[in-house]
Order: sequence, then structure tokens, then C-alpha cells
Amino acid sequence: MRPMKNRCCRKSGRYLLICCLLGFMTTSAAGNAKAYPWWCATTVYQIYPRSFFDSSGDGIGDLQGIIEKLDYIRELGFETIWISPFFKSPQQDFGYDISDYYDIAPEYGDMATCERLIRAVHQRGMKVVFDLVMNHTSAEHPWFKDSALSAYSDRADWYVWRTGKGKNNRRPPNNWKSVLGGSAWIYHPQRKQFYYAAFLPFQPDLNYYNPQVKEAMFDVVRFWLRKGVDGFRLDMFNAIYEDSSFQDNPFCLRLIPSEENPDGFFQQYRYNLNHEKSFAFATELRAVVEEFHEPERFLVGEVFGPPATLKRFCDYQGRKGLHAVFLFQTLSVRFTAPALRALVESFEKEFPDPFIPVYAFSNHDRKRSFSRLGESMEKARLLALFQFTVRGIPFTYYGEELGMPQSNIPMRAAKDPLAQRFRWIPQFLIRWAGQSLNRDECRTPMLWNDQAHAGFCHPACTPWLPVSDCYSEINVERQKADEHSLLNFYKRILHLRRQITALQTGRMEVASHLCSTRIFAYYRSDESGKYLVILNMSNKSVKPAYSGGELLLSTHASNGAFMQPWEGRLVCFH
Ligand code: GLC
Repeated sequence: MRPMKNRCCRKSGRYLLICCLLGFMTTSAAGNAKAYPWWCATTVYQIYPRSFFDSSGDGIGDLQGIIEKLDYIRELGFETIWISPFFKSPQQDFGYDISDYYDIAPEYGDMATCERLIRAVHQRGMKVVFDLVMNHTSAEHPWFKDSALSAYSDRADWYVWRTGKGKNNRRPPNNWKSVLGGSAWIYHPQRKQFYYAAFLPFQPDLNYYNPQVKEAMFDVVRFWLRKGVDGFRLDMFNAIYEDSSFQDNPFCLRLIPSEENPDGFFQQYRYNLNHEKSFAFATELRAVVEEFHEPERFLVGEVFGPPATLKRFCDYQGRKGLHAVFLFQTLSVRFTAPALRALVESFEKEFPDPFIPVYAFSNHDRKRSFSRLGESMEKARLLALFQFTVRGIPFTYYGEELGMPQSNIPMRAAKDPLAQRFRWIPQFLIRWAGQSLNRDECRTPMLWNDQAHAGFCHPACTPWLPVSDCYSEINVERQKADEHSLLNFYKRILHLRRQITALQTGRMEVASHLCSTRIFAYYRSDESGKYLVILNMSNKSVKPAYSGGELLLSTHASNGAFMQPWEGRLVCFH
């Protein structure tokens, strides 16, 4: 017995030693593997609630409608949803004009439904990001109503008020323009002063120099975080502060602002956009959300400017600010290999790990990407392959997964206040410039099936915006049944991305030797493997100079030495 026991001991001793060694090796390997927070690796689906799904029969999408469609989003493979605002609002800017941050607009539901929505998202292992409009409120907000009463009211300086110039003080206090052009100052007859509005006149800017305003808004943030919201998309975050000197902005020769440069209308927006204090404010807001850490919450800013400036919203003098910012060059980048390469290289230069760029190709303000791509399903597939494999946080706008096109709605029929403001511009000029100033055109109802109103609402009601004519061909039901549809391509790439950590958080390296005027290629790698993404962004077949590897996915289900026009591939090298 004894020798046996000894043998056993010796054996179990060796076994233990091996286990310890293995344990040590695996923990040190895990120690090497960097742990990334959820928002770094996530994929986001943007819902414009008014247009997603109407459960109540009034022709307007609602929160219950979102709950009913959550499984659709989860099955597609998205992990996070961002919902455009659904708070109480006179809806002059369809929710971006809030009159109560603590209440839900009745057409969207009520607080109990909102809480159910948050729970329903979490039950599916997903995250939910709300839209937070901190820069301005609606002019109908009780804060503004009180502020407008007189210079002595309780909230007199909750907004940006200035006395006008000239006789009777009826000329604006300075030359600042709103981001839409035209003076940003609106005269208020009761208060006999001007208030500042960076966007539309019914959206007065809050005055963040007033600590009470800051606290009031931070309380809003805490309120929703306590309810379990996983983060916020921050509306017009680069307009939070204006310069307290109220100096005139300098003249400049630019007419149309761009994503890269918000100057325009012959003015440099030096004193009212991207102010130093707005960068610092991002760090204060970060500190507020960090009061809530299980799980970590996420802040993504809507900001405009060159990437180097925008980075300051994420990192201000070595302090942490927003987790990420939109980099809207994505909305106008040309669909060519050199243009995409230049975009990626500039984002990688300014936002190297641990920063992370955001890739969004459509949203509720801009022309839908499918139409920008000339309504080509091939190109839409290629763009999706790029978006879900490049290093970044991908944002998909509802319907983008179907190739939902931009609608064509005449300016005179527009509900969008922006279109109403620019109604005087001849339509042909706008179309000629390839633009859309009527945001209704990208906000039309989601295309669920080929039934009445594309299944968006009950057949007996009228949808708030006309349903796109293409719904009998382009809709969820039809694409689900078609193995080769864009929707099923989204599903495949999203599911691959979920399995391959290198595609989520791995290193990114441009494969220069494979790049050309036609081809853009890059590697993603981590300890799990090395992956090549190769995009033929041309209408010619090409023979790329890579060999070996295992083809995981092709936009064209092809596998030959030649890549077809507009084909993209994902190849794995173990
Ligand atoms: C942002 C929103 C836009 C809104 C504006 C004013 O740009 O994306 O839809 O109209 O801010 O809040």
C-alpha cells in the first residue's frame, strides 16, 4: 500500500506542479491581455424613436415599439442601442427641444414604459444609451420661462442673456452666428434683452457659467444613471460654453461649414464653439458618470472640428473627459481606397489606443449612406465590412442594415424646422450639391415588411412621415428570408466580430504593401490571431498580392485569386 501511496503522492505532486505552472502561464497570459471596457468593443444601433415602430396606433413610433423590436436588434448582433430624445418636448425639433428632462413625451410612453425598456435591454445582455441635450432647452422649459420674466427672476441667469446695442438696444450684442448661419441672438420683448441660441431660436442655450445650471444638469445625469442607463450621446457638446468676453468673432472667407471645420457664413466661430471651458467641462461630466461604475457608463459627444481639436474632449490636460467623440468626416468621405485610408490614418494618429475613433456613416441629420453610395448594395456591403472590422466604435442608423434609401420629400412639405428655415433655397440647387436640407428625408419610418405602411404602424393610421416607396422591395421580412441580403451580411459580420476579439479591440495596422488606388487593406491582431481585411474599392477585378490565410468572409461569397469589383474579404492568419 505504502509504495503505492508514495507513487500517488509523487504523481499528484507532479500534477500539482504542472497545474501551478499552467495556472501561472495562463494568468500571466491573461495579465498581458489588456482588459477593455464594454464600450470599446461594442456596436451601436441608433433608433430614431418617432420612426422605428408604432405600437399605440397614432402613426408615431414609441418606447413600447422599441421594446417589441429589441429581439430584432439583438438577433442582428448589435450590443448597444442609442435612442434619440423622447423626453417631454413641444416637438418643434422633434425632441431636441426638451421641456422636462424628468418626464417622457406622452406620444412615446411614460416613465414605467421607459423603465421597462431599460430592463428589457439589460435582460438581453445589451446596453442602452440615451440622448442628452445639455446645451439648450426648449423655450417652453419652465427654467426658460422663469428666466425670461425679468433680470431679477430666480433663474435670471440660467440662460445667456445680453443687452443689445444701438438705439433702444435692439441690435444684437455681438456678431455671433448660430451654427445654421444668421445671428445667434434673439430679442425677447418681455425681458428686453437678447438670448443666445446656438441652433434654432426656440432652443435657448443654458449658461454653464452659473454653477446652479451645472448642478441641475448633473442631477439629470444622475437621475437617469440611477435608472440604469449605460451612457449618453451628448448633443451639440462643442457649443456648451461661449467666451465670457462676448467679443466679436473674426471674419473669414468660408461660406459652408464642414465636419472638419465649423467656421462658415463668413465667420470664424472662435468665441462660441469648441471653447476651452467646454473641454474642461467634459472632465467634470466624466467625474459625475464615474460616481456610477458597475457597470462603467459611456459618454460620446456630438462635436465638430479637426480630430486634433476634438481629442481634447476626451483628454483635457491629461484628465479624462468623454470616452469618445463622433468624427463626422465619416459622413462625407469619398468612397475610394485612398480617401478611406487617409481617414483611418488620421483617426489612428489622433486617437491611438487607449482612445478609440467612432465610425458612423448615417444619422438622423444627414443624408443616408445608402443614397450617398448611389444605392449600391455591393458598396453597402463593402462599407459594412469596413465599419465592423476597422478599429473603432461602429454606429449604425436604423434601416442602414437594409440599404434604406434617403426619401424625397419636398421642402414645402417638410416637418423638419431646419428645412422650414431653408425653404427659400431652390430645391434643384440643393440636389445639385448632393445635399439634403430636409432631415425628414432620412427620418422616414422603418421598413418592416411589405404590408401597409411597411408594417411601421397600424394600417388604419397615417404615419407621421411618408413611408419610403421602396418598401415592397426593401424591408426586414424580405431580407431576413434572402440569404444574400444586406441584412444577412450585417448579421454575419456582426456575429464574426463578436467572436473575434481582434476585430473588437485588436491592434490596427494599415497593410501598405497591399494598398493602391483601388485597394485599401489593413490587419487587426491580438493574441487570438491576425486578420486581414482587404477591400477592392473599384469597379475592376483585381488580384491582390496576399497569399495563404483562411477566408472567413467575402462580401461576394467568392474565393478565387481575383477579387471582384467592390468585393471585400476578411482573411484569418493563425
Ligand atoms: C444636434 C442633433 C440635431 C438637433 C440639434 C439641436 O445636431 O443631432 O438633430 O436638431 O442638435 O439639438
